[in-house]
Amino acid sequence: MTVKTQQHVGELLPNWMINLTDRIMGYYIKRYLNCDPVILDRPPAPEPGHQYLLYAHIPFCKTLCSYCTFHRFLYKEHKAREYFVNLRKEMDYVKALGYDFSSMYIGGGTTTIIEDELIKTIEHARTLFPGIKEVSCETDPAQIVTPAFKNLKGLVDRMSIGVQSFDDNILKLTERYDKFGSGAQIYERLGQALELFPTTNIDMIFGFRGQSLEMLQRDMDLLVDLNPRQITTYPLMVTSQTNKSVKGTIAADGSELADQYRIIMNTLGAHYRQLTSWTFGRTHDEGFDEYVVDHDEYLGVGSGAFSFLGTNLYVNTFSLSRYGKRIENGQTGVERQRNFDKHAILQYRLLLGLFSARLSRKYFREVHGVNLDRALFKEMLALKAIGAIRNDPTNPDNVIVTDKGKFLGLVMMKAFYSGMDNVRAELRRPLKESDM
Ligand SMILES: C[S@@+](CC[C@H](N)C(=O)[O-])C[C@H]1O[C@@H](n2cnc3c(N)ncnc32)[C@H](O)[C@@H]1O
Ligand code: SF4
Repeated sequence: MTVKTQQHVGELLPNWMINLTDRIMGYYIKRYLNCDPVILDRPPAPEPGHQYLLYAHIPFCKTLCSYCTFHRFLYKEHKAREYFVNLRKEMDYVKALGYDFSSMYIGGGTTTIIEDELIKTIEHARTLFPGIKEVSCETDPAQIVTPAFKNLKGLVDRMSIGVQSFDDNILKLTERYDKFGSGAQIYERLGQALELFPTTNIDMIFGFRGQSLEMLQRDMDLLVDLNPRQITTYPLMVTSQTNKSVKGTIAADGSELADQYRIIMNTLGAHYRQLTSWTFGRTHDEGFDEYVVDHDEYLGVGSGAFSFLGTNLYVNTFSLSRYGKRIENGQTGVERQRNFDKHAILQYRLLLGLFSARLSRKYFREVHGVNLDRALFKEMLALKAIGAIRNDPTNPDNVIVTDKGKFLGLVMMKAFYSGMDNVRAELRRPLKESDM
């Protein structure tokens, strides 16, 4: 293996501060991430002049990974085909409300599970919403070698492939070895898939039990050799849904999080630009990964999708049968709602600013009409005191997010995503066999 250039990342955060951050995030998540007791028919109409992203959820996988926190069901072809038809109808309803979109993110599950349905859905979306300039999809290492996969070329701008690790022990631990192949097989298949789309992203996970620093270093070195346009390195998130299946078996205790993150930043940072706390791109503008970062407002279609519109979070029904009935009745999937006050919205945007290392006073002034340092006085003071941010001497509107700040952004975003998963868990809990 070639020796990789390394950059130097200093002290990140001590473990007691990571634990404290988790506790603070836990407090806010409990306070904010729950739904109002209303059942809606559809989302509100768009606001003139606002830009929206369309999110579409495909909740099917041929195999269910025990650590996975996403909304997904075991694949049955007839259910999945029926679902895609409903998804396209839901897009028609959204069009009738007056929406257009600047981009589309299709998330899963495994979005390429029936390529012909996915193709029809993308073509339908592009016809309904002529503003769509980019389409992003997610898939797994088995799907990329199906004969129909190549048909997505020219339609998809960014394809994200879930690898998680090239280490066979980790693939066996997560039961992906038998389902998706060995690390060497996956690596070989990726080489063929990389050139099909303008951007290919590889998803990796760190924080598995038994994943030593050497194993992680090897994963990062292999990625540098493979040289995909984009890489995402998620910390393993353990939530109320996956706690039983992974705690003490698949998940590490978290005490090495900072050391692991240092390896990732040192290795990938020397060859890639860091786009968010966990995304690295070969050039600065690599399409998109966390659609929530680049889009203040997004609308979700499909079962279990989230939307963020104005000051409200909306959640679509998690039941497949209920989703089908709602579409049949002319309603969209949007069913539940949570309104946020101004301060909560500003705190959320500060979190995203830290996470994306793009924190701008101008953005807060022009989009939210506030002075960042006054409106979030306590938060900004704390971030400066621990060395997560500092003023940019060359541009007073710019706030520099330090390596410590990027790591804090990762810890906070991990907690935030886990909190979102608690919302999913609560809404999935009442589901019966007939809902799936
Ligand atoms: C929704 S999945 C779709 C990818 C595809 N189905 C696969 O597994 O290859 C997107 C990514 O989420 C990440 N992911 C899923 N569960 C996670 C968890 N508990 N913690 C961190 N990342 C997770 C994985 O990296 C996965 O590739
Ligand atoms: S990690 Fe991917 S394949 Fe596994 S259950 Fe989650 S979405 Fe499905």
